[in-house]
Amino acid sequence: MAKRDLISIDDLSAADVDLLLDTAESFLPVLQRDIKKVPTLRGRTVINMFFESSTRTSTSFDLAAKRLSADTIGIKAKGSAVDKGESLKDTIITLSAYSPDIIVIRHPRAGACQLASANTTASIINAGDGKHQHPSQCLLDLFTLRQAFGRNLRGLKVAIVGDILHSRVARSDIAGFQLLGMDVTVIAPPTMMPREVDSLGVNVRYDLAELHKADVIYLLRIQQERITQGANFLPSLREYANVWGVTRSRLRPGQKVMHPGPINRGVEISAAVADDPDTLIAQQVEAGLAVRMAILYRTIVGSTDSDTKEAL
Ligand code: CP
Repeated sequence: MAKRDLISIDDLSAADVDLLLDTAESFLPVLQRDIKKVPTLRGRTVINMFFESSTRTSTSFDLAAKRLSADTIGIKAKGSAVDKGESLKDTIITLSAYSPDIIVIRHPRAGACQLASANTTASIINAGDGKHQHPSQCLLDLFTLRQAFGRNLRGLKVAIVGDILHSRVARSDIAGFQLLGMDVTVIAPPTMMPREVDSLGVNVRYDLAELHKADVIYLLRIQQERITQGANFLPSLREYANVWGVTRSRLRPGQKVMHPGPINRGVEISAAVADDPDTLIAQQVEAGLAVRMAILYRTIVGSTDSDTKEAL
């Protein structure tokens, strides 16, 4: 049987997404128990390889594997043999000697997961590769939207605001939101809008004039780590905050605000919006654990519905 990877949200059909989100929902009661652990993946091995900074994704994949009783190994570039010049290919071949079931990878280079997949029999899960993809973020965002708006997200209007050009979250979310029938608008300074935006089937705006039309505002930070030093995308952060920053006065009552994190208060999001009850950022983080449990489980166990009940 061919191994299952999750490298791009484009690997999934709408039915696959529904199954993953339903599976995540079935794990929620486990996370409310006193003993928050099930034996589902006992004897399985999950390697979490984070070669780029992360708080949310790394902790939730690690905890998700532990909640499912898998054996876990965490590895970061600093302190590993990467410091001594070992290539990604050789690191993957080395770790594959332990016969892991899954290798979760975050890497600064787009395409790292495809390279890894070609060099291991383990399933590869992309935890963010350069500005390419971040599929588990998209799934947890969809899960959060389902919890806020119900199962049917068709016709929901989402405005993604910020540095679209450098954002893997934008690439994954645009595809995932459209897959479930949502209407997507992207809003960015002209210098932070990708050239290929017209081919994505989204509405394109360069200011916040129509922000009130959206049901959900999805904010992105400026991805400084992917901007070459000295490149001038913006006059200043203050100018960005003045023109594209989302403050309470720019929102209408009832609009939900999301952000993948980490947030930069006072730049793309005001402190008041970050702390507002209509902001779903904490719910996104919470969703991340159940969704990543579902991803690990479905990657290993497969797609028959009856499996989940047995797992719990
Ligand atoms: N959203 C997200 O990927 O956050 P981390 O970089 O903290 O994992």
